[in-house]
Amino acid sequence: MDDLFNNDALPVHVGIIMDGNGRWAKKRNLLRTNGHTEGLKRAKEIAKAASDIGLKFLTFYVFSTENWKRTEQEVGFLMNLIHSYLLKEFDFCKYNNVRVRMLGDKSRLPENVRKDINQIEKDTENLTGLTICLAINYGGRDEIIRGVKKLIAEGKTESEISEESISKSFDVPELPDVDLLIRTGGEKRLSNFLMWHSAYAELLFSDTLWPDYYKEEFFKDIGEFQKRSRRFGAVPV
Ligand code: IPE
Ligand code: IPE
Ligand code: MG
Repeated sequence: MDDLFNNDALPVHVGIIMDGNGRWAKKRNLLRTNGHTEGLKRAKEIAKAASDIGLKFLTFYVFSTENWKRTEQEVGFLMNLIHSYLLKEFDFCKYNNVRVRMLGDKSRLPENVRKDINQIEKDTENLTGLTICLAINYGGRDEIIRGVKKLIAEGKTESEISEESISKSFDVPELPDVDLLIRTGGEKRLSNFLMWHSAYAELLFSDTLWPDYYKEEFFKDIGEFQKRSRRFGAVPV
């Protein structure tokens, strides 16, 4: 894989919008839910690959604040998938030194999912390798609103409102800005993902449907990121 990207210039934080599960299934005359099951396998593959290369932060968009609009059956399936998956991942995390954090509003999640998340966050809190953030019932705008409400509840004054204090009010306060944002599935939009953290992200849109997104493409995308010229508003000298 060494020829696909340079291991000495990795992005710090990669965010992934895993889109295209339903279309992947439809193409094969399967149920949309089969697409989610297959998509979970790719998420595990990419998580392992990210850990192996030494990435520090990886965020997966698992379920958006808008995804409740889907059928009860699909929503129920996704919540069960998260539940059965999280319970089994502790060994993977321990073995690979992976910490798990959740982004999003836990209050609307089913009790069993909330419990699993709290458990895996606690069990992995001292692990120091890759941090995997799972964005579940996550909306970029919702995160900002909840953060600002927290600051108000803490009695912060106008002079204490800054980029730093707002960032610190989020679900994972230490989560750095996104360097590379990948969206599979062909759509070219952010769908409310990490609105604050992606202010200067490099955007990469892939036509590959998520269940077909293997680690080779991930490595190629990191290589593509490394060719970009990031200026952050300045004029290069
Ligand atoms: C992404 O795949 C997974 C989730 C949003 C949970 P989709 O389910 O959106 O798949 P498409 O976009 O309909 O193909
Ligand atoms: C974004 O995909 C959400 C996740 C991948 C979890 P969607 O399929 O929900 O986004 P839209 O509806 O195409 O914008
Ligand atoms: Mg979609």
